[in-house]
Amino acid sequence: YGPKVVVVGSCMIDLVFYVDRMPQLGETMHCTSFKQGFGGKGANQAYQAALLFDSHGDVAMVGAVGDDAFGEATRDNMEDVGINVSCLALTPNHATGMAEINVDANGNNAIVIAANANTTITPDAVAAAAHSLFASARVVVTQLEIPLAATLEAMRHGRDAGALVVFNPAPAIADLPDEIFELADFVTPNESETSLMTGGMPVETLDEAEAAGRVLLDRGASNVILTLGARGAMWLSAGTGDAVVIPIPDPVPASAVVDTTGAGDSFVGAFAYYMAQTDCPGIEHAIRSAHRLSAASVQAAGTQTSYVSAVAVDPDHFH
Ligand code: RIB
Ligand code: NA
Repeated sequence: YGPKVVVVGSCMIDLVFYVDRMPQLGETMHCTSFKQGFGGKGANQAYQAALLFDSHGDVAMVGAVGDDAFGEATRDNMEDVGINVSCLALTPNHATGMAEINVDANGNNAIVIAANANTTITPDAVAAAAHSLFASARVVVTQLEIPLAATLEAMRHGRDAGALVVFNPAPAIADLPDEIFELADFVTPNESETSLMTGGMPVETLDEAEAAGRVLLDRGASNVILTLGARGAMWLSAGTGDAVVIPIPDPVPASAVVDTTGAGDSFVGAFAYYMAQTDCPGIEHAIRSAHRLSAASVQAAGTQTSYVSAVAVDPDHFH
């Protein structure tokens, strides 16, 4: 008994401005529409995973929000989908994390985050959370919107607990320590994150993606799942040495793309869910199923508000 997927990471309030084009320096412009929602890479991943599980308590969120109305609303929003929030701290004298998101007419985004309460997460708090939540965990998921020391501590405890450790290196940092790759069963960067983490290697063609992905394997990752937007993902395995491209089963035509914000988080949360299933037929299957969820998310506005449960989109859904 206990959570099967534990996400250690960030919570933000997303303020989304839909614009015809990105603003320029010195410019003030009107947006075409506005949406407020719950976001943050960690919370998004937990939320997508929780939408896929049948019962409450299968996903836990470890993190920190402010001791303000946004913090309480964030916690309530998670409880509504059955996320265990026993290790989500309401931090006095800190504001809840905020994300200012511009989304252009093509569905592309540019984001500024104020991490706020997310910066208060300490390794000690993560260790305490691991003590109470990791025993049952099959998958532990981390990102880079909380202090690096806290992310590393989560990954160490995840490995000690025998869980699969998924590390989503977003937003990317150029000079990460080798330990973080060595602790990762799966590293899940997108193209630009991969380029940043490999000292600027180009990641445009599939050959370039493979070469850069292999650098991350060389740094100690067991697997790299390099997401390639509309092209799907490339799975590189240290064990087999193979690099396999797994396309999106039902590609979304460009005209149907509304908002790609949070699509990567939908992918990571869904992947964690599928990998946590005892009858998971394998990594490739988990990637393909996760693609279906993230493809659904780009067809609606917002981050968590655009996530769906698998029954809607996945004919191969298993649990
Ligand atoms: O990955 C998307 C997320 O990044 C948004 O929800 C925003 O909060 C930022 O953290
Ligand atoms: Na979306």
